[in-house]
Amino acid sequence: MKTNIINLLLLSIAIIISGCSAEQSTFVGEFMSNPSAIGAIAPSSEELAEIMVENIDPANSIVIELGAGTGPFTEKLVAKIPKDKLFIVENNTTFYQHLVKRFPDQTVLCVDACELDKHIPEHLHGKINVVVSGLPFRSLPADVATKILSSLKKVCSVNFKLIQFTYFKEPPLPLAESEMLGISPTYYKLSPNNTPAAHVWIYNPTIVADTSK
Ligand SMILES: C[S@@+](CC[C@H](N)C(=O)[O-])C[C@H]1O[C@@H](n2cnc3c(N)ncnc32)[C@H](O)[C@@H]1O
Repeated sequence: MKTNIINLLLLSIAIIISGCSAEQSTFVGEFMSNPSAIGAIAPSSEELAEIMVENIDPANSIVIELGAGTGPFTEKLVAKIPKDKLFIVENNTTFYQHLVKRFPDQTVLCVDACELDKHIPEHLHGKINVVVSGLPFRSLPADVATKILSSLKKVCSVNFKLIQFTYFKEPPLPLAESEMLGISPTYYKLSPNNTPAAHVWIYNPTIVADTSK
């Protein structure tokens, strides 16, 4: 994990030196101040954002976006999902303020994803069926990842799906965590032009074989 963060730090220094947009430099600045929570040196690309949302059925989905950052996935979700069925979560105050300005009509929650169940309206507990996550699960401390997944379990339906990207080849969630949540990963697609290239995985509830017959 340390090597991954050092590589991202070196890449971010290269981006600063080569010149970048105001949004990108905000992102690099936030990454420098808290590398393990931000987990990326640049906002995700349009290509990755398209892949993250293309599998969502707009007519039958109640969606939480976790770790929205500056909003590349949010932009695609807003175009697809009715306003009352989309909850955008970001705990970094710089990114939160940016999101509120960029999406003034949306529900943007400046809360820790560890406490989702306290902030998602109670009548929707058990009904959230899609989670689009930009959270850097591999660089977050293990206890934080566990708390986020426990909180998700409280608000999601039994047949929810979690769409998650990673820069690495392995599934994005540590195995113990996905087993705790009762979900299994399926590889979905590569976004080759993202910086760095990203892999998208979709987690669905694990099907347990019925051995009683
Ligand atoms: C890898 S960035 C992804 C940002 C954006 N989705 C994108 O793809 O460009 C991870 C984001 O997760 C947010 N984050 C990390 N831990 C969080 C937590 N516990 N609760 C809410 N957001 C969190 C970070 O602040 C950051 O914006």
